[in-house]
Amino acid sequence: MVDLLLGLQWGDEGKGKIVDVLTKDYDIIARFQGGPNAGHTLEFDGIKHVLHTIPSGIFHKNAVNVVGNGVVIDPVIFKKELDNLEKFEIDIISKLFISRKAHLILPTHRLLDAASEAAKGKAKIGSTLKGIGPTYMDKTGRNGMRVGDLEFDNWEAKYRILADKHEAMIGFYNVDIQYDLKELEAEFHEGIATLKQLRFIDSEEYIFQAQKEGKRILAEGAQGSLLDIDFGTYPFVTSSNTTAAGACTGLGVAPNKIGRVLGIFKAYTTRVGSGPFPTELFDEDGETMGRVGNEFGATTGRPRRCGWLDLVALKYAVQVNGVTELMMMKADVLSGFKNLKVCTAYKYKGEEIEHLPYNIESENIVPVYKEVKGWSKDLTKLTKAEELPPALNDYISFLEKELNVPIKIVSVGPDRLQTIHR
Ligand code: GDP
Ligand code: IMO
Ligand code: MG
Repeated sequence: MVDLLLGLQWGDEGKGKIVDVLTKDYDIIARFQGGPNAGHTLEFDGIKHVLHTIPSGIFHKNAVNVVGNGVVIDPVIFKKELDNLEKFEIDIISKLFISRKAHLILPTHRLLDAASEAAKGKAKIGSTLKGIGPTYMDKTGRNGMRVGDLEFDNWEAKYRILADKHEAMIGFYNVDIQYDLKELEAEFHEGIATLKQLRFIDSEEYIFQAQKEGKRILAEGAQGSLLDIDFGTYPFVTSSNTTAAGACTGLGVAPNKIGRVLGIFKAYTTRVGSGPFPTELFDEDGETMGRVGNEFGATTGRPRRCGWLDLVALKYAVQVNGVTELMMMKADVLSGFKNLKVCTAYKYKGEEIEHLPYNIESENIVPVYKEVKGWSKDLTKLTKAEELPPALNDYISFLEKELNVPIKIVSVGPDRLQTIHR
């Protein structure tokens, strides 16, 4: 069986932290979609570390980490990630395997991302500009380059054809994008040389054999359900399926082999980049969440937009993913709010609805809030469920009842140890 860990909101729920906490119980940690648009933060022993492509099990000796076929890899960022890991003396070669079927992000994919965003002007997606969209476009357009191509001598010829095409495409956008392709290609080649030192595998076969041997496998999602290319707030989404089904296609796991589905959400909501966000706050409360929660993007450093928990959106994500267990993150950030609000319905076209409509642009939706009591206790030193303040327990019970799924972990700080199991 393969367990899944998925973000249920707009990303940055704390997936990296929880994968790191859970890795001791698994033999394999596998990424199945997304790329270096992700920024997964881990904190332990006074160290803070951000991973982009490499799965968050890399710091544990017991687990092998797999970058699956559904992931898109930028060799340049990947090399930097490996360089940053050097000081930890991890035996990378025996601990990190790469799917031959994973697609490569070329320097020109990044440029195309920038050109596309510049051409959109105000309507831009707010992409991380890591070339994610253009790379998945080449994948589905059947033009992409894959990791396995690097094992053949003609890969550079293939690269040239694609990069030349991309340069012509950049011209079509008619925007001013400055670049020095020679320089970009030099670092791309360095990245490829580093990537080639790792073991390339047929990851679907590897995962299949591992299942046969009874190995415990955890698939680590990137982004969040509301950024899913099909089910998210399109077009303000990423270019992969971030929801449970993405793990089947991104790793080659059969649907009937999915075990637990661990859904992770913040006790409030954040979003980075453009797009609808019905419960977004523009007041002091939102400012407090951002400041106390240190809400800045782990990949781009951009401030994250903050707002109350949106149960309508969360229910939708629980449903689409078939979540079996929930994990609530950043409960500590809400300490000190006299009252908390939870959005339980939307006012939409004169009606009150409890599902996500096709168009959730803020001008169409007024959130309906339920107000609950807050708590003032500092949670960051707590280690046991019995120590949680009554008002937080009430908040948890309310959410469990609404979502009909148990909340098994309450996170009370960024460190590995600030994790309460219930
Ligand atoms: P991911 O993309 O889902 O892995 O999440 P990010 O790493 O992008 O963002 C989560 C941020 O919240 C990181 O800075 C974490 O260190 C931090 N974090 C995780 N859990 C908690 C928590 O329970 N409390 C607080 N205060 N911070 C947390
Ligand atoms: P993790 O895994 C939060 C957002 C971007 C933008 C949109 C499209 O750390 O949770 P893209 O670069 O994919 O073209 O951007 O998606 N986005 C994320 N937001 N966390 C992420 O990853 C994200 N990855 C992409 O801000 O709005
Ligand atoms: Mg993140």
